[in-house]
Amino acid sequence: MKPVQIVLEDKESLDRVDGPLKVAGAATYSAEYQVDKPAHAVLVTSTIAKGIIAKIESEKASSAKGVLAVISHLNAPVIPGYPAPKQPAERAPVGTSFRLFYDHFIYFDGQPVALVVAETLEQANHAASLVRVEYQKETHATDFEANAISAVVPQSVLRSQNSPFKDYERGDPDAIDRAEVKIESTYTIPTQHHQPLEPHAIIAVWEAEDKLTVYDKNQGVKSAQGNLAQVFKLPRANVKVISPFIGGAFGSGIRVWPHTIAAVLAAKHIRRPVKLVLGREQMFTSVGYRPYTVQKVAVGASKAGNLTAIVHEGTGQTSQYEEHLERTILAGRSLYACPNVITKYRLLNLDVNTPTWMRGPGDATGMFALESALDELSYALKIDPLELRLRNYAETDPERNLPFSAKSLRQCYEKGAEAFGWKNRAPEPGLMKNKGMLVGYGMASSLYGFHRHPSMAKAIMLENGSVVVQSATMDIGPGTGTAMTRIASQVIGISSRKIRFDLGDSSLPDAPGQNGSSTIPSVGSAVFAACTALKAKLAKLAAEMPGGDTASYQEILRFHKLAQVEAQEESKSGPERDQYSMYSFGCHFLEVHVHPLTFEVKVTRAVTCADVGKVINYKTARSQSIGGLVGGIGMALMEASVMDHRFGRYVTSDFASYHIPVHADVPQMEVLFIDQPDVRVNPIGSKGLGEIAIVGVAAAIANAVFHATGKRVRELPITVDKLI
Ligand code: MOS
Repeated sequence: MKPVQIVLEDKESLDRVDGPLKVAGAATYSAEYQVDKPAHAVLVTSTIAKGIIAKIESEKASSAKGVLAVISHLNAPVIPGYPAPKQPAERAPVGTSFRLFYDHFIYFDGQPVALVVAETLEQANHAASLVRVEYQKETHATDFEANAISAVVPQSVLRSQNSPFKDYERGDPDAIDRAEVKIESTYTIPTQHHQPLEPHAIIAVWEAEDKLTVYDKNQGVKSAQGNLAQVFKLPRANVKVISPFIGGAFGSGIRVWPHTIAAVLAAKHIRRPVKLVLGREQMFTSVGYRPYTVQKVAVGASKAGNLTAIVHEGTGQTSQYEEHLERTILAGRSLYACPNVITKYRLLNLDVNTPTWMRGPGDATGMFALESALDELSYALKIDPLELRLRNYAETDPERNLPFSAKSLRQCYEKGAEAFGWKNRAPEPGLMKNKGMLVGYGMASSLYGFHRHPSMAKAIMLENGSVVVQSATMDIGPGTGTAMTRIASQVIGISSRKIRFDLGDSSLPDAPGQNGSSTIPSVGSAVFAACTALKAKLAKLAAEMPGGDTASYQEILRFHKLAQVEAQEESKSGPERDQYSMYSFGCHFLEVHVHPLTFEVKVTRAVTCADVGKVINYKTARSQSIGGLVGGIGMALMEASVMDHRFGRYVTSDFASYHIPVHADVPQMEVLFIDQPDVRVNPIGSKGLGEIAIVGVAAAIANAVFHATGKRVRELPITVDKLI
């Protein structure tokens, strides 16, 4: 690896470069693009969870005013990327991506069974209500608890040589039985849905027989491009995906979902652009969710508080056709210096749609259990929860037996505890009161693996001295353009006002989607590389002209009669990946007030401290951390998608019943960073922040609730019925 250069010296923060566009309503979101004569499409979705479609009556819908097409498996144009259906048709085996309008099988309630396309949205909605679908129902299984016994080792794990989800054992497998002090508990996370404010939406335009443009809400234009090219058997270069503005996604936009395929198919069918916007209710069955997960955690320690064993078993739900795996049980292998660790991961296939990654996927789920268990252990040991974590601090990664590339978690604990006033915590639950309220303090650790994917960026100096930087990366809200502008400004040494950053367009230089807190580590490094290369080119041009050492960039281009100078670079990981264990770290301290009679819980204070290496832009980084805390409050206290298992259908499929935090639920928050560059991970010394911002927050709140009330809630969300 080349010697590391840290370029960001000042702590000034940039305001969001696209802030003015967003607040003025001038940012164009997927459904808002102006195209020629768009038709409107509305999905008709199944009302049973398992069975087959016996009959579809679509004549009324087809002859309704303005209707252009009613598409179902009975008449859908062939999707060239799908294999020919078996004769007779068979249910898709585990490991099959969902295929739209493929055959008559129903796999979950809310499955798309038909698409109505009409001149106006109102006409499409009306006609959709006229489509009659008859089913032959089969007995469905949607209730996790009732079917838990059927959980299995995922097939993809069985097939894989070195999956991290294989059963894991280090040290003495019986250590837990011999522990001087031991805790064993079961923790449950309900299904939760991302529910960004902007619903998923697409406008599909066929520019020619083999040329497609989509304005589609997603988290990765390049991966969406690849997927659409594959499904519609087109050369990649003939598929253009545009998605520069996204009104939140939280993981729901990482995949291409059936509604996107539906719109593209319909546009091909009617030879006109088609717009499709999911309704809020459809957002509960069309774009994934955080899976219902049950975890059993046992932790053992010596009386002195040294961990001797961690056993972490987790089972998540998935659909009958796909296996969604997430990092639920992994954190305990690396977070603490514990010699004996066992982890097991299982999946339970149910008649539901496939879950997907959501805000700290797996880690947020797993850390709720692990950090709740550590808290339980601290009370059993009568050791302060923070002290317990410090006593078991991992100086090196006990899983891989490697040094960490950098780790300032100890400083996070110290800085966070100091700012929060952790030393004022009463050692026993139920002792602290304020204005008649029970007061509780809770804390938890956070860790999240470092992800850096190969990324390209191009930097172009124009003759007016301004710079355009381009990469096919995304911004689902954290402020990607702002951070990249800041890196470019620092490297090239010009004002951020002279820089424009282009993203969210598949024709830009190749970059990964925005997920796994990987954007700044990956794309930030590419922007750094491209801008460094551009600067070197300009320096070389300057050296070739008289007075070049004092010439401005404009003068350099003018002298050489160049309209622009550009540099494109790729940036990726090197051998350091095998030499170090790489993680972002953090911790959260939360205070709750609990009403002594109604047991209403209110989060009253929050302090979070993160070690993400170099902080690129304080203002947007702080917003990321606040967003994580808010998401954690939702996870801990409110969010749950409740299903009526008689029908296998969600009954909380709107914002009136699916509760997320509002302003009144969110207290003043203090966000702290260690801000020490991790010089081993990449040239900018910066690691991911998005996920550690939420990982652990739900545990810290549950721990605070226990400290306030003496009641341990192991099943999220912590609602009053569980406390009273
Ligand atoms: Mo995130 S769940 O990787 O958008």
